Amino acid sequence: MKKSQDRIKDWWEDSSKWYQKDAKIHTRAAHYGPYAPDEDKLRLLGKVKGKKILEIGCGGGQCSIAFAKEGANVTGVDISEEQLKYAENLAKKNKVKVKFVQSDVQTLKQFKSNGYDIVFSTWALQYIPDLKKCFKEVHRILKKNGLFVFSFGHPFHENINPKTTKLKYNYNKPGKVVETETWADGKKHTFIMFKRRISDIYDAIVESGLTLEKILEPVKLKGQKAWTSDPFTDDFSLKLAKMVPPTIIFKTRKK
Ligand SMILES: C[S@@+](CC[C@H](N)C(=O)[O-])C[C@H]1O[C@@H](n2cnc3c(N)ncnc32)[C@H](O)[C@@H]1O
Repeated sequence: MKKSQDRIKDWWEDSSKWYQKDAKIHTRAAHYGPYAPDEDKLRLLGKVKGKKILEIGCGGGQCSIAFAKEGANVTGVDISEEQLKYAENLAKKNKVKVKFVQSDVQTLKQFKSNGYDIVFSTWALQYIPDLKKCFKEVHRILKKNGLFVFSFGHPFHENINPKTTKLKYNYNKPGKVVETETWADGKKHTFIMFKRRISDIYDAIVESGLTLEKILEPVKLKGQKAWTSDPFTDDFSLKLAKMVPPTIIFKTRKK
């Protein structure tokens, strides 16, 4: 039996093409996820020109590219070769230089301590089995006063069936969620993510030495173009987004 980490990588290798087509993510500004305003509205990072930024779980590289367009020195890290191939091409199309590195973001060994002004992540850390390990590494590589801003699926939203808006999972029971789907190619694909409570995320932040400055639960219902719903799962239904935020954002700092 393959380890969860390898199965998660397999999922992203197999679903990268579909994801990039479905999510339609732009490179105008860094984005935070479904129904969330972009960084040009939220302004959590301040001016990034000249800043050294590491994006963890960069996927197709859209946020890294947006930062590079603003004059930042950016490195994007992801575990999936397919996602990084897409990112390299997109950076070329946008005529910006971004360094892309294939790595598991739970160990950022190749990045030196106290080296980055900003570590950033959108909608990737729900696929990381060990959040504490990852955050400790982020703390190590950040410069003093450096920012770590990340988003992922809101823990309340993730427990609800978007079609029925009824509870699907037990919030009190965090842990691994495994779902198997049969795709049009007739093959079975396994999706794995880790459901966490707000207190689990808070503990991981504090135990890594980071200071939590802000939690944001913004919902922007109009003009939602990216992350259009998969009609099969309706994961990001407008009906549910009106009641529960799909995205949660944390702003933390290395003091
Ligand atoms: C939903 S995508 C988000 C990508 C990008 N941030 C975006 O907003 O489109 C999740 C990404 O996390 C990456 N990922 C999952 N586990 C990882 C790990 N342990 N280390 C690095 N990347 C990982 C996947 O390969 C995938 O590209």
